[in-house]
Amino acid sequence: MKNYKIGLLGFGTIGAGVVEGIERNGALIASRTDIQLSLNMLSDLDLDTDRGVTVERERMTTDSLKVIESPDTDIVVELIGGTGIARELILRALSLGKPVVTANKALLAEHGEEIYRTAHENNTDVFYEGSVGGGIPVIRALREGLVANEIERIYGILNGTCNYILTSMEQDGVPFDQVLAEAQAEGFAEANPGLDIDGIDTSHKAVILAALAYGKQVPLSMVTIRGIRGLEITDIQYAAELGYRIKLLAVLKHEDGEVEIGVYPALVPLDHLLASVNGVFNAVMVSGDVVGDTLYYGRGAGRKPTASAVLGDIVDAARNLAFSSPRRVPAFTEHTHYERVRPHEDIRTRYYLRVSLLDKPGMIARVAGILGAQEISIASIIQKECDLGCHAPVIILTHTAQERQFQAALEQIDALKEVDRPTVRLRIEDFK
Ligand code: HSE
Repeated sequence: MKNYKIGLLGFGTIGAGVVEGIERNGALIASRTDIQLSLNMLSDLDLDTDRGVTVERERMTTDSLKVIESPDTDIVVELIGGTGIARELILRALSLGKPVVTANKALLAEHGEEIYRTAHENNTDVFYEGSVGGGIPVIRALREGLVANEIERIYGILNGTCNYILTSMEQDGVPFDQVLAEAQAEGFAEANPGLDIDGIDTSHKAVILAALAYGKQVPLSMVTIRGIRGLEITDIQYAAELGYRIKLLAVLKHEDGEVEIGVYPALVPLDHLLASVNGVFNAVMVSGDVVGDTLYYGRGAGRKPTASAVLGDIVDAARNLAFSSPRRVPAFTEHTHYERVRPHEDIRTRYYLRVSLLDKPGMIARVAGILGAQEISIASIIQKECDLGCHAPVIILTHTAQERQFQAALEQIDALKEVDRPTVRLRIEDFK
């Protein structure tokens, strides 16, 4: 039996879940892997709050460097979050040749290249399963199980908070702000919930998946990011009438040598599997040229699911130490197979539009004319009835067109004096 000791940086929700997981299943892990894991030390600025697990006081410190540099720390687990001190601590641990496990998606999305390179230069590992999809082992699937595939498409519901909000708005008719407060109370939401509802957390996760799928660190500035802030129940209801459910989707595609990556609130057909992913659950659909479609589903946020992913990584790190096989499965391998990230304006998609249009003769024809002049074809159109002289919601589903054509058309539509508020525009995802 080999023994490895963990140095834990950050004793918050997930950190406490990791300590609890070792207490609960340490013996099971040992009998499965012949590796005994234990906590060496942990660091946090707050050592007084009760986290529901007991750690001896002498194993706790506010000094993270002490934890990293302790000769007894074999594996460093970073669960502080953020892109500041966490980055410095991870780089320090890697420079000492110690493997690092992290769930820090923001850090990997912004500084992944530096972190992966430092691990490589020091012949050690960095594992990050907990950074995407909580407890779902999708990073492992991409790094190992699907390594023989060209990854054609990835569609992900990757933010538990947003999915929880969308589900509650649809099922219970609860307004946006109220559901967000509930998600915060449940502990799913980021400390700054703007990261969740503005799609930024999902974009971080999409960048991490893109790195694995396409061997490219896509800069966040190249990712189209739209969140769900301000989404209205009325659009959720119209979407349902038309046979769709709105989900915040990460969309990654590889087409004609180009990589496309974006985050959008999107209409998903009700009969598609992703439409059934509700509440805090996440799901990732990965399509490979050899395997076809695969789907990964589970809890995407919270103490236990994320701790499950972190513990799996700790076991991987320990196995690599036990067999002296660091970097057996590298964190990231750059390759030049894919040429370029598709600019936002070149992305082709379908849209749901809700135009608030004065009900008077000829108005629908004018809107249709503007769309037609931009080569945007209407797939269906419904005007909701209202008294003559009111602004009626006109719901338009389009066929596929280019983003720049939609932008040009919407500028003209919203400039009409008969349109009294900005047109709502939501992507329609047909999974083609
Ligand atoms: N705030 C994130 C979510 C946590 O809601 O999914 C998990 O990354």
